[in-house]
Amino acid sequence: MRINPETVERIKHAADIVEVVGDFVSLKKKGANYSACCPFHNEKTPSFNVNPVRQIYKCFGCGAAGDSIKFVMDIDGIGYGEALRYLAGKYNIEIEEEELTDEETIRQNARESLYIILNYAKNFYQHQLHNSEEGQAIGLSYFRERGFTNEIRKKFELGYSLDNWDSFSKEALEKGYSAEILEKAGLLIHKEGSQTAGYDRFRGRVIFPIHNIAGKTIAFGARILKTDKNQPKYLNSPETEVYHKSEVLYGIFQAKNAIRSLEHCYLVEGYTDVISLHQAGIENVVASSGTSLTVEQIRLIGRFTPNITILYDGDMAGIKAALRGLDLVLEEGLNVNVVLFPDNEDPDSYVRRVGAEAFKAHLKKASKDFITFKTEILLQDAGNDPFRLAAVIQEVVNSIVKIPDAIKRQVFFHRTSEMLRVDEQMLITEGNKLLRKQHTAKPTERQPRQSNATPEGPRQEFHQPEGPDDLDALFSDGFGPFAGEPDAIPFVAEEVEAFQRTKLHYQEEAFVRLLVVHGARELEPTITVCQYVLGQIEGIELKDPVYSHLLTLFRENFNRNHVLTTDYFLQHHEAEIRNLTIEWLTQKHELSELWKEKYEIYVPFETDVLDRTAFNNILRLKKAFIEEKMKVCLQQAVHAKTEEEQHAVMTEFMFYKGISMAAAKELGSVIG
Ligand code: CTP
Ligand code: MN
Repeated sequence: MRINPETVERIKHAADIVEVVGDFVSLKKKGANYSACCPFHNEKTPSFNVNPVRQIYKCFGCGAAGDSIKFVMDIDGIGYGEALRYLAGKYNIEIEEEELTDEETIRQNARESLYIILNYAKNFYQHQLHNSEEGQAIGLSYFRERGFTNEIRKKFELGYSLDNWDSFSKEALEKGYSAEILEKAGLLIHKEGSQTAGYDRFRGRVIFPIHNIAGKTIAFGARILKTDKNQPKYLNSPETEVYHKSEVLYGIFQAKNAIRSLEHCYLVEGYTDVISLHQAGIENVVASSGTSLTVEQIRLIGRFTPNITILYDGDMAGIKAALRGLDLVLEEGLNVNVVLFPDNEDPDSYVRRVGAEAFKAHLKKASKDFITFKTEILLQDAGNDPFRLAAVIQEVVNSIVKIPDAIKRQVFFHRTSEMLRVDEQMLITEGNKLLRKQHTAKPTERQPRQSNATPEGPRQEFHQPEGPDDLDALFSDGFGPFAGEPDAIPFVAEEVEAFQRTKLHYQEEAFVRLLVVHGARELEPTITVCQYVLGQIEGIELKDPVYSHLLTLFRENFNRNHVLTTDYFLQHHEAEIRNLTIEWLTQKHELSELWKEKYEIYVPFETDVLDRTAFNNILRLKKAFIEEKMKVCLQQAVHAKTEEEQHAVMTEFMFYKGISMAAAKELGSVIG
């Protein structure tokens, strides 16, 4: 059964965003909107905004955004259907369901019945651990020996599978589950052609249930307790319809809130590492379960935080093997740190030996950024061999260019040039070569800007399948903390992207940059750049939603006799604005040269020509603004239905043309 579309509409209509969010966080009214400290990340000043007009929320700190349904999904870690049911309950809406097509029914039932049998198995193993004689004698005493408390065993729903061929499947079959579904869930092994029903996959092992992000059991890891050379230490569920190993992180359900609020995730290798660290009070930890990290796993972490620290066992061979794979994490734009543990220790054994406090101290002290770590290890290896040294340089540059953020790349070129004792410029040149190669391999347009806090791309990939997938588009239209007033120019995502590649956009950027970087400077005693500039552009609005927002900030503050400084923007609560400011402050001169050539824009940099720069920029912006108006007029003229209409539009056109020519003349004389 599926909730029918009319019911969904009724729920959406009834579920007021302010009420729904208000059940979880305390909202303060701020103008037309509401704000609060974000429930999805840890913060002291509120950057979480709720817009009752549009019925959406957005956090400018971490990028979380959506409507009532998305909010419930994320705050509770539940699926779309479940969120709808929650809201229906809250608003007393009767749920009408409709029949699925046969195919849908089969698919849904198949998944549903897998979840049901896996949940049944999890309960069965838990019960065996605590209530059977064998479970207590072997499983429970093993966990106790490892120091796992009652509480932690419950939290991770640990269990035990009896040491015989069919105690699980016998009971499951008796309960009415089919052999086929047991096999599909990976719990029963049935040899083809065999006459018997088959046998249990997990026998005589302690059981670690693996959960999906919403807490449903989707698979099991099972550790052997005997020493048997012919048996693997850990036996895991096979891939099933609900378990795709490469997309799963062990412990994500138990860790997600801590990761979100601490804005940091630790990555370990094993089940027991996750559990021991939780017990020691470190809850923002997940495991890759012994395999090398996949893109899907990285993106899963990236949904919650961009900061990841990898905790390695002290096994050099393993570490070296893993180094290359970690470039993937850089590519995804995450900040990667690495912590090493002493030989023959893993996080689990180490925390048990030294205790929680010393463990945390070690994390702090031994943590290194990945690039530094990699450079050190490769350097140790290379010794003084010049050929190997050259290979190391190449390898390090290779990793650095994987980092999408240009400023971070600069930092690492600088840092590693010292470690490698080579000229920084030479590293940059090498890096640029590689970057160019990448770009010619796959031409990319200028990317639309995004907040660094949560990459939006991966977000979508992990939407529940039934969920709405166009939420992001809703938020790319400049909805800001001051939104709520009607927007000057409502944009949809594609339009913003297209606009960002126009000349006017660069013009606008150069202009806003002037305000942000130099606005507080004095042109003459008591006249700031800001005052001068704002006076010159009365009535002009910017098209780019972010720039327009910044301009509004300047105007509003200036009306209260206050000039915003660069520092203000460096500390702005919106990551996007902070990042833009950094970008503008650090723009290299080459970049401006390039722009200048291509778009005839004068990008201010030298402060001694500031007044002229300011003047030029204003004129150019005015001219570009007017030209845009002229273009619109021409279009309207073409589509005019009556001669009268056409005449009116052309009169307007001529008016703008006059201004434009005057501006051009002035510009010519100024530049000349
Ligand atoms: N692993 C696996 N299959 C194996 C061995 C290991 O899936 N045959 C995975 C498990 O997820 C395991 C992780 O790799 O937790 C790390 O392996 P290892 O370090 O050998 O185990 P520990 O987690 O340290 O377990 P224990 O402390 O109980 O030995
Ligand atoms: Mn271990």
